[in-house]
Amino acid sequence: MADSSGPRFPLPDGFLMGASTSAHQVEGNNVSSDLWALENQPGTFIAERSGDAADSFHRWPQDMDLLRDLGFNAYRFGIEWARIEPEQGHVSRAAVAHYRAMVRGAVERGLTPVVTLHHFTSPNWFSARGGWLTEDAAELFASYTRTAVEVLGEDVRYVATINEPNMLALVHAMRRAAEQGRPSPTEGGDTGGVAFDPSTVEPSPNMTAALIRAHRAAYRVLKEADPGYQVGWTVANQVYQAEPGAEEIAAAYARPREDVFLEAAREDDWIGVQAYTRHRIGPHGPLPVPEGAETTLTRWEFYPEALGEAVRHTRQVVGAGVPVIVTENGIATSDDERRVAHTERALASLVAQMRAGADVRGYLHWSALDNYEWGSYRPTFGLIAVDPVTFARTPKPSARWLGALARDRHLPCGADRPQHVAASAR
Ligand code: BGC
Repeated sequence: MADSSGPRFPLPDGFLMGASTSAHQVEGNNVSSDLWALENQPGTFIAERSGDAADSFHRWPQDMDLLRDLGFNAYRFGIEWARIEPEQGHVSRAAVAHYRAMVRGAVERGLTPVVTLHHFTSPNWFSARGGWLTEDAAELFASYTRTAVEVLGEDVRYVATINEPNMLALVHAMRRAAEQGRPSPTEGGDTGGVAFDPSTVEPSPNMTAALIRAHRAAYRVLKEADPGYQVGWTVANQVYQAEPGAEEIAAAYARPREDVFLEAAREDDWIGVQAYTRHRIGPHGPLPVPEGAETTLTRWEFYPEALGEAVRHTRQVVGAGVPVIVTENGIATSDDERRVAHTERALASLVAQMRAGADVRGYLHWSALDNYEWGSYRPTFGLIAVDPVTFARTPKPSARWLGALARDRHLPCGADRPQHVAASAR
């Protein structure tokens, strides 16, 4: 395991240290969602169905017990629109009560809940009638948000409206392209699940605008209900790095895929940073992972310093006045020592940004559990392993390592790390 006895950075008071999940990826049997319908369609391009996932719908108390016992003080989890409103206009009181119990359960355990309202999946009825592009989509999302307020109560402060709207918009564009006979999602790609080449399409301005409208509508609902709610959304930071001479091309490439979504957060209470790796952009567009570079189970380059660079870029675009929460950062690997090594360097790059003045309020690792990685169970991101048959949970050494940092209220700061790591703090 990586040696964490080096220099340490004391955590600011109130700093959230924890882990994240999303509803569809851990709950199981999300039967009223659009993705469930797609996963179970005969001849679907999705390699593996979510099925029971990690059965967290029933086992959430155990998940939260584990996170608390490991030393964490925060848990980001999702509530599922498709469960709360399985048919348009019909609220499941049982689902509201279920999520309300989860919120209370987190608070009772000393875990600050960070609650995501939408994480990739929508109710099947919503998508079947046209999804985000219908005229009343924002109002429908706002109406669901009004119900979600009952779940949040006075216990939740941090609310994320939509997870990775930029990925939602990109996947929407991919599917559109596929319908038009252009390069399509295929079985068994990067993750063993849905493969796509995001460089061939870009989010449509309509979809982007629709997501921003929905975010704003939800923001308003939440603030009217309780001005104390801290509302934001989370953006997938792809850490686009321009090769020399490709600066303008990289900026043009990043804008519709990332920066417009960051700009939309300028008036928010916080911004969620989610970073896993970098993407180099050359004069002709995206470049492959450098030859010989270590890659992960998702075939992404092992590049932990992406986290610090994502925070720096986010502050540049959103503005330094909007606090940052790292709502996802992690690695798909079966070698838990690499998870520790990755996270240690990622945290050091984060500390460098904090030292440079970044207002970072928390670090939530992706993921608490090994879970359903959108089409496949093969890429394991979890701090805690889950047996697919018995659902037994087993914390990995990385969970104990990160939990100990949370308990000690320190982060490794990598002052003794090689020069190129320190350089990522630029
Ligand atoms: C998503 C997660 C996903 C993770 C790893 C993010 O894009 O929010 O749902 O599992 O990255 O791919």
